[in-house]
Amino acid sequence: MPLTDQEIYELLKKLTLEQKIGQLNMVGGSIYTEFKPEEQDELLKRGLIGSMMYANPKINNTLQKRHLNSHDNAIPILFCADVIHGAKTNFPLPLAESCSWDLDLAKRSAEIMALEASALGVRLTFAPMADLAYDARWGRNVEGAGEDPYLASLFTKARVEGFQGPNRENIDQFHVGATIKHFAGYSYVTAGKDYNYSSIDDRTLKTKVFRPYKAGVDAGAVSVMTAFNDIHGIPCVSNEYLLKDVLRKEWGFDGVIVSDYSSIRQNITQHFDANEKEAALSSLKATNDIDMESRIYTEQLPLLINEGLISEDELDEAVFRVLKLKSRLGLFDNPYVEEKREEKDFETEKALNTAYESAAKSLVLLKNNDGLLPLSKNSKVALIGPFANERAVLNGSWTMGYNDHTPTICEVFSAKRHSFAYCKGYEKDKLLTTDVTDAVTKSDVIVACLGHEASLSGEAASLSKIELPPMEQKLFDHLLTYKKPIVVLLLSARPLAIKEITEKANALIMGWALGTKAAEALVDTLYGKNNPSGKLTMTIPRNAGQCPITYNGYQECRPYNPKDYYTANYRDIKEGPLFPFGFGLSYNEYRYGKPTILNQDIRFGDVIKVSLPIENNGEYDGREIVQIYVSKQSNRPLRPRLELVSFEVVNLKSHEKRLITLNIASVNLAYENEDPRGEYKLFIGPNSVDTKELTINII
Ligand code: NOJ
Repeated sequence: MPLTDQEIYELLKKLTLEQKIGQLNMVGGSIYTEFKPEEQDELLKRGLIGSMMYANPKINNTLQKRHLNSHDNAIPILFCADVIHGAKTNFPLPLAESCSWDLDLAKRSAEIMALEASALGVRLTFAPMADLAYDARWGRNVEGAGEDPYLASLFTKARVEGFQGPNRENIDQFHVGATIKHFAGYSYVTAGKDYNYSSIDDRTLKTKVFRPYKAGVDAGAVSVMTAFNDIHGIPCVSNEYLLKDVLRKEWGFDGVIVSDYSSIRQNITQHFDANEKEAALSSLKATNDIDMESRIYTEQLPLLINEGLISEDELDEAVFRVLKLKSRLGLFDNPYVEEKREEKDFETEKALNTAYESAAKSLVLLKNNDGLLPLSKNSKVALIGPFANERAVLNGSWTMGYNDHTPTICEVFSAKRHSFAYCKGYEKDKLLTTDVTDAVTKSDVIVACLGHEASLSGEAASLSKIELPPMEQKLFDHLLTYKKPIVVLLLSARPLAIKEITEKANALIMGWALGTKAAEALVDTLYGKNNPSGKLTMTIPRNAGQCPITYNGYQECRPYNPKDYYTANYRDIKEGPLFPFGFGLSYNEYRYGKPTILNQDIRFGDVIKVSLPIENNGEYDGREIVQIYVSKQSNRPLRPRLELVSFEVVNLKSHEKRLITLNIASVNLAYENEDPRGEYKLFIGPNSVDTKELTINII
């Protein structure tokens, strides 16, 4: 049972100053490499290791035991890890999984990640990331749920619920605490460069950026991580407006705030604080509770308290929150992990089935000319490219799970006995022309496995060019010379500017980094066992020069008009993205009829009801994601030109026709503290561009 607040205070009172400060110190696994065993024992004995990033049941248990036996007041160590898309079974990276628009699936995936992570001894994950995708150059978009605040909020909530289970006050041994990160606005780093400064106006913060973090907090996340960047010129870790005014006061967050890795120290690098003492002071004053790996709190807080710059009450508040987190996680009842759990909890049948479901629903069909896909069972395939027989690209960055349990595309082709000839395509900077010719001439269709290797997305993986690497482009150009139909499987955790491929390939699948079951889902899709249904949650630009580009910016003052020179566009590329937000095809065509409003007078708070005839005009059963966007016709200040307010997942059998009712909560249409009344246009369709329009009035 979790401790009562009174019991936590009693415990707190027993701790020495040093032991209290130790609770605010989080170390990485480097404790094993940097410190000799006797030094480790010394740290443990003094109670200086409150939490630690490590995921190994045996080692965690041994360390916990050494610690708990080392002194009377020993408080269990909290073990944490970045469980981003799986602890053993690899699920699709979160950006990919958001393309399923399946919230229940995201919750189930997170729950399985929690089961496996907790079997490794982890009790807190640094996920979900609630940063909105903003700039395709930024490598970390892969960890979030795309660019739309409404959808990202729903995903953040689903993931928190999956990680933590139903009761945040009493998180069981098979779940883990969730950390909403990176608060706030980490994705808005200038020019998409990781670790850069940011500049976000207040309105964007409140109406877009904050929303997914708040959804995570409202869903009960027990912890929040501060972002590396600054807001209004103040590094997030020391930002009192963000942490005290917004997070704690306005949103009522009573959990733990943890800094990002070494970010307290970075205050000095950025010339915000002059020295370690100032950095500790500004961070603790802002109520940042845990110092991740700066090792500044342990050195500086004793001095600051001695000098009266921080009161012991302020310190106690932070320590209380950490103890409360440990109690919520059941650490006082059971600080150890049962070491044998791995036998029953790793890669269960349920985990593998869910990973397959997630991979199959998250891939996005971007082009399919003349119904080239699905391939007939008898087609002979030339499987070409650097990623046709490569594993790591399918797992993607932040993989802590098994890499080698993920079959490659070639391996799945073999296992499923599909007829194919394989060739890598090039070595270093030389095309393997003879091998390619050999493979292609034996085949009816080319499946080119192109993309970006895993290390080109994730942390510290910003790119100024987001095209294919030159050798892959050369290979593609060479493949075109055979004049055979080409399907491109694009394996890249991030959106790529692939204008030429989009124009010249006959079919194109965004295959992301889909995890353990990636290849099976992709191959099943090629052969029609899976009918694609994923829709992009991040705009794909034509080139990096368009970045940042999202569907929900403000309307330009002179929207593009090809007949008018003086309108918004770039002179050197076609206007608009390569693929818009919400886009994704299937093997069917879904026909949307005319939507009709069913309500008479709509008052703010009502549910708006729209009926929509929809037909699956194809041979496959399918799953269509009907999207509803809004545009308010007059508002001060401006609002985005289009905003997703609702969506409906509709399962339709082959040739099924149905009249569906869309229920749209009118509260989703308005902004807090702004007059909700007025004229709105609703846009309903299969993506953010091909929509049918309706006008409504909220009275
Ligand atoms: C830095 C990353 O920004 C953060 O997301 C992660 O949780 C920490 N490192 C710990 O690995």
